[in-house]
Amino acid sequence: MAEADASGRMTAAVWLTLLLAVVSAVDRSNFKTCDQSSFCKRQRNLKPGSSPYRALLESLQFSQDSMKIQLINEANKVPLLLEFYGLKGNMTRLRINELTPLKARYEVPDVLVQDPPTTRLSVTGRDENSVELSLGDGIRKVILTAKPFRMDLLVGWELVLSVNSRGLLVFEHLRQRKDSFSDKVSSTVVSIWDSIKNLFSRTPTKEPDPDGAEAAEASNAPLPLEEEPTEKTEQLEDTSKREGEAEEDPGTWEETFKTHTDRKPNGPTSVGLDFSFPGVENVYGIPEHADNLRLRTTEGGDPYRLYNLDVFQYELYNPMALYGSVPVLLAHSAQRTLGIFWLNAAETWVDITSNTAGKTLFGKMLDYIQGGGETPQTDVRWMSESGIIDVFLLLGPSPADVFKQYTSLTGTQALPPLFALAYHQSRWNYNDEEDVNAVDNGFDEHDIPYDIIWLDIEHTDGKRYFTWDPNKFPHPREMLQHLTAKRRKMVSIVDPHIKVDTGYRVHNEIRSRDFYVKTKDGNDYEGWCWPGSAGYPDFTNPQMRAWWSSMFAYDQYEGSTENLYTWNDMNEPSIFNGPEVTMHKDAVHQGDWEHRDVHNLYGFYVQMATAQGQEQRSGGVERPFVLTRSFFAGSQRYGAVWTGDNSAEWDHLKISIPMCLSLGLVGISFCGADVGGFFKNPEPELLVRWYQVGAYQPFFRAHAHVDTTRREPWLFGEENKALIRDAIRERYALLPFWYTLLYQSYRTGQPVMRPLWVEYPQDPTVYGIDDQYLLGDALLVHPVTAQGARGVQVYLPGKGAVWYDVHTHQKLHAPQTLYLTVTMSSIPVYQRGGSIVARKERVRRSSDCMQNDPYTLYVALGPQGTAQGDLFVDDGHTYNFETKGQYLHRLFRFSGNVLTASTADPKGSFETLAWIERVVILGAGKPAAVFLKQDGAAETRLDFTHEAETSVLTVRKPAVNVGADWSISLR
Ligand code: NOJ
Repeated sequence: MAEADASGRMTAAVWLTLLLAVVSAVDRSNFKTCDQSSFCKRQRNLKPGSSPYRALLESLQFSQDSMKIQLINEANKVPLLLEFYGLKGNMTRLRINELTPLKARYEVPDVLVQDPPTTRLSVTGRDENSVELSLGDGIRKVILTAKPFRMDLLVGWELVLSVNSRGLLVFEHLRQRKDSFSDKVSSTVVSIWDSIKNLFSRTPTKEPDPDGAEAAEASNAPLPLEEEPTEKTEQLEDTSKREGEAEEDPGTWEETFKTHTDRKPNGPTSVGLDFSFPGVENVYGIPEHADNLRLRTTEGGDPYRLYNLDVFQYELYNPMALYGSVPVLLAHSAQRTLGIFWLNAAETWVDITSNTAGKTLFGKMLDYIQGGGETPQTDVRWMSESGIIDVFLLLGPSPADVFKQYTSLTGTQALPPLFALAYHQSRWNYNDEEDVNAVDNGFDEHDIPYDIIWLDIEHTDGKRYFTWDPNKFPHPREMLQHLTAKRRKMVSIVDPHIKVDTGYRVHNEIRSRDFYVKTKDGNDYEGWCWPGSAGYPDFTNPQMRAWWSSMFAYDQYEGSTENLYTWNDMNEPSIFNGPEVTMHKDAVHQGDWEHRDVHNLYGFYVQMATAQGQEQRSGGVERPFVLTRSFFAGSQRYGAVWTGDNSAEWDHLKISIPMCLSLGLVGISFCGADVGGFFKNPEPELLVRWYQVGAYQPFFRAHAHVDTTRREPWLFGEENKALIRDAIRERYALLPFWYTLLYQSYRTGQPVMRPLWVEYPQDPTVYGIDDQYLLGDALLVHPVTAQGARGVQVYLPGKGAVWYDVHTHQKLHAPQTLYLTVTMSSIPVYQRGGSIVARKERVRRSSDCMQNDPYTLYVALGPQGTAQGDLFVDDGHTYNFETKGQYLHRLFRFSGNVLTASTADPKGSFETLAWIERVVILGAGKPAAVFLKQDGAAETRLDFTHEAETSVLTVRKPAVNVGADWSISLR
């Protein structure tokens, strides 16, 4: 891939790629540890137990839905303002900012979908050191203790969550640099101001009394909340009395990492706070990390880091940052599930400690029996480099409640077009139009369904996005039309780094509109990426985003057509020669915000602008499809996420499950990993297993590094091809089910892929399980992820529940752990007794070809002989389901030997030719006869077969339209 630039020199990007190719694992030295991140180190040096904060009860102010109170740091006298809100839906919001910051601090915009509606807050008790508040219905109370400051949240009489109980609240106030020139100027201003004040004041300024008590008393008096002190007062306080606790730390005003120096014009600005969950031993969330689903304690190691980074060849099972960040953590016990949403887009570290960490189960039991053990507790400490403290406490109490609460704040998963749930074929790169054509034909020849072929960076004219390489892709429109004829689509990559080249229209337009991110000195920021020197559009600027969106119009993005969709990569942003392979923190965005403040939002905005562009090109009719590598809270509203550059290794296959589960827990359901592994060449066994895993993850795309050997499914011999084909076909058969799950997620915020504890919250056996999971509440998947596996241990949850092997239809009782022997064709999947799943079982070229295909309903009878399920149907690609009510949401119920179909939502209606060709009832006895009854028609008899051995009843050809109401009775 070595490329030379016009002058024949190797570009930095090429050197970098070559260099990267010879290194084979993450170079940890490229990325900071907490110790190398000045604010993290400073905060971690602050140990529990010594909070200098006091709430000034005399400053307390109430309104119907909020409480405001000042907090004072007894050490430096800086007043903070705490605002506390009761929110509808069993949530609260806590905001802490400086009462009078020297300048505004960053507050994250655009992530919340609305101003969260508030609920009533009332004072129900008070003494000299505390206030008791009641939230909404009064069952939930908050006790605010003044000194030392802490807040405790009670449900009934049970303490469920404490804030700052370990005293780790940190708020580094904005300040003037002590020995700087400006500081000298300001202290001159101060002394002049002091003199003027003394001249006019009736009581002359006194020297503080020797023990300082009086001065402390005076400066602890609350400032009036409504009155902003003048800048002069501010400077006066800052330079004279506010001793910054951080002043001594060498990284406070300037921090150097490797060759990069971060000049911090605002000095130290970090914030931090601790939360305790009594009774909780399991915490989850805060993606993205290549780690287990259940978070570990971070004592003795680094905290989990949230800082969007392009980590080359990332390592598994560690808390290092990756491409995206969602600052949401879930705490779970058999009693309840709670969540914390820490709305801050700056670099963030999360420490987790637990008083039961390291204790064996036996040790814990012994504690319990002897009555000597403490209540288990998990403590979580958040530390962010800048911004304010803005945190939502999601009070559950069920997992489903927490998902609903969180997505009411940040939005639910966008309903993707149906094709996006089908199989995607990608590699870096499909070289030219002939190559695309050959691969496309390959799928037909080998009778493997696929929907979308992907073009990586090499398709462009010299890494200039929105263009096509004139030699390799001279006829993009024709190529796309050819795919349209096959009812297939294409995705092209559009990265956010823009080649600095005055011959490139995109660059010229961005520059002329002054849309690039700036350096601290006000020039356009430039960094190295695939095209060589590149500018970085300021996606935080709404005007820039609007312009970017306009670039997806068919007349702007030349050669694009309706079936071309988009992939946003490198949007952390990745900058090869930047600190930690990203942007300098002192780069400047619109509104004079530092990159430091907005870093974790950059990728979110890129995907937002792209998705909006796709929407706009169709006049708002078509739903977009955009894949992003970088993300933040709320990214679910704009499309899909994948787990970046994994490797063709068994452990990487395995970790794809917890990585996607973690994302699902925090709203991002549309997740997948590169099937086959991005780096290295998978052995056939691994590739086959990866297809089997990918077929049961929401985003199903094969992708590979440019240096890997080709790996289209038919290149590994007949046997492997057949196995891969089976896995892909299984995916296609289940597309109606996937689509319904995505619809439910869109409507209700529930994750598509669910850890077992989400559905079985009281079963401690499942809290640590992350090698199997549920799709919705109906299918349990335990894919094979080990080399040479002969069997897997499957845990079937649910007291008294039954499960059916979807392949053999064998009925199994739960709870139990069973050892299932496997062969290369095994994909262990079980359907829950009590559920109904719709499939389309005719093999087609692409999902679009399946549109009018008939359904088969799989009715898995529960222990009581009942079952229920639903199905969502619409045109699969427009917003008409929303804007025109053009959809069907069907409800199927089986009870008393009768299966009925009715509407789950009478607001929708949709014409479709799709009908029901078969009903398979698992766990059924043999009836004497089966009858179909439709509204207004006489009963008709239906054919059926019954397998006594497996208790499977197959009812043939009810031949009813999927939108019709009907019933089938077994007699
Ligand atoms: C990095 C992405 O993660 C990878 O999927 C892609 O192939 C390369 N960039 C080249 O665009």
